[in-house]
Amino acid sequence: MSTRRAVVTGASSGIGAATVRLFRDHGWEVLAVARRQERLAALAAETGADVLRADVTVPSDVQAVADRARALGGADVLVNNAGGALGSASVEDASVDDWRAMFETNVIGTKQMIAAMLPVLRTAARGRGGADIVTVTSTAGHVAYENGGGYNAAKFAEHALVAALRLELAGEPIRVVEIAPGLVRTGEFALVRFGGDQEKADAVYEGVDEPLVADDVAAAIVHAVELPAHVNLDLVTIRPVAQAAQHKLVRRPLQPRD
Ligand SMILES: NC(=O)c1ccc[n+]([C@@H]2O[C@H](COP(=O)([O-])OP(=O)(O)OC[C@H]3O[C@@H](n4cnc5c(N)ncnc54)[C@H](OP(=O)(O)O)[C@@H]3O)[C@@H](O)[C@H]2O)c1
Repeated sequence: MSTRRAVVTGASSGIGAATVRLFRDHGWEVLAVARRQERLAALAAETGADVLRADVTVPSDVQAVADRARALGGADVLVNNAGGALGSASVEDASVDDWRAMFETNVIGTKQMIAAMLPVLRTAARGRGGADIVTVTSTAGHVAYENGGGYNAAKFAEHALVAALRLELAGEPIRVVEIAPGLVRTGEFALVRFGGDQEKADAVYEGVDEPLVADDVAAAIVHAVELPAHVNLDLVTIRPVAQAAQHKLVRRPLQPRD
């Protein structure tokens, strides 16, 4: 059987880059997509992945991803990972521009990627009997928190989009998987959220006994698509042990009670 190929968006850092590395380690072909060309070039040199500079909010870029995937020989898996948070402010005070940007990337970008890639994935499904759409949402898409309203709204919407898609694709051999991580210490997520303020970004993880890292989420993504084709990890919530719930994050070393 020929090698399978995954298209991974948001591949220039964090969870996306870790997912590309793990797929390559497991022998997959990968088309890695993001906006920062120099990051992609470094990832290509390191892993041998194919790369394409594309903004998931721009329709012509998204179509170019699907065209490239087809030109490379097709794709079996789409990982919608591009996304993130901008700002931390109340519903009353938050920047509308931030909200629009979060909706564009997390929701519209994901919708556009799915629409463009479905014909490519269906070709793979006809040939091999299956294909996968994996979307990285967030626990912020399931439980709201103060000053997270814009990100919550975007990720709730992305969660709803995935749920509707699963119903719409019922009857086709295409798994629709949602990976909803809790606190993941990646190099840029919090930094982007806080406009480059390293101190605020570091404070998010302060005292937490082993937040998740990008490799942990990548392992869940690759595991999901390597399971037998009839097994669908419908919704995977993945948190560090120190985070019992959105509002229950322990900021001290974990230890058994006496
Ligand atoms: N870290 C966490 O705690 C956490 C928790 C739950 C869920 N998540 C979700 O996991 C995903 C990855 O997050 P991360 O922690 O790995 O953050 P990250 O390092 O900031 O990664 C975000 C990636 O998305 C890309 N991206 C952003 N806008 C894009 C666009 N318009 N078009 C194409 N690519 C775009 C960025 O690259 P370019 O700037 O080069 O385009 C980057 O590669 C996001 O959807 C995030 O919401 C993260």
